[in-house]
Amino acid sequence: MTLRSRARARRMRLPTAYDDAWLPRLATPHRGTSYRGDTATLLGAAWRNPRQLGTIAPSSRALARLAASVVPTQGTPTVVELGAGGGAISDVIATRMPSGGRQLAVEINNDLVRHLSRSRPWLQVLGGDAAQLTQLLGQAAVDRVDAVVSALPWTFLPAAHRQSILAELQAVLAPDGILSTIITLTAWPTRSCRVFRHQLASTFGHIEVLGPVWAALPPAVVLTCRKPSHG
Ligand SMILES: C[S@@+](CC[C@H](N)C(=O)[O-])C[C@H]1O[C@@H](n2cnc3c(N)ncnc32)[C@H](O)[C@@H]1O
Repeated sequence: MTLRSRARARRMRLPTAYDDAWLPRLATPHRGTSYRGDTATLLGAAWRNPRQLGTIAPSSRALARLAASVVPTQGTPTVVELGAGGGAISDVIATRMPSGGRQLAVEINNDLVRHLSRSRPWLQVLGGDAAQLTQLLGQAAVDRVDAVVSALPWTFLPAAHRQSILAELQAVLAPDGILSTIITLTAWPTRSCRVFRHQLASTFGHIEVLGPVWAALPPAVVLTCRKPSHG
């Protein structure tokens, strides 16, 4: 690559190798495949609105893989990600999606919605609150979802807000549809997390715990719940 073509690639802001090299390697999502500005945009938004973001780093690749392990690899599934942030998990979901499947992402923060739409034109980004999921999906002509992958900061949300989101998930998930959600080990022992796990169990019945994933900042587990096939 000549100096001139390298400068042109930089000006065009093409997808590059991971660009926030100062972050610990454990926190890096997709060395080699992430997009310029993912981490800076996420952390900038977290700095301005820490409770909305509820994060100190993007999901690591190992954590993203575990959360995305519920994404069907066959057929034509519709998959929705809640709280897409800088896109760390969106990219892993995309690598699992079978051709003909449909991938959507819901994100409440406007800066992140703009970043995701600009950096990932292949991703259908719905800007808004996950508590309005049915309405948001309606705008995209989606009424049934096969898998939901969530990185929402559940323990920062009031219990009533969490309950509204869970009711929406229950409504949109297809029978046998599956939800995965990340919970950090720092949040796990809190009262808010205990209440959330109770809410999850009373909405879906059985919860499975996957992990922990230590290669993440902070380390985390993934909870999965399946909607009963008769539900
Ligand atoms: C912990 S960050 C996860 C970011 C990214 N998915 C990752 O794993 O690196 C949580 C994300 O959820 C978004 N969020 C918070 N509350 C939300 C809500 N009610 N509806 C939709 N997105 C929300 C935040 O703006 C943030 O981008």
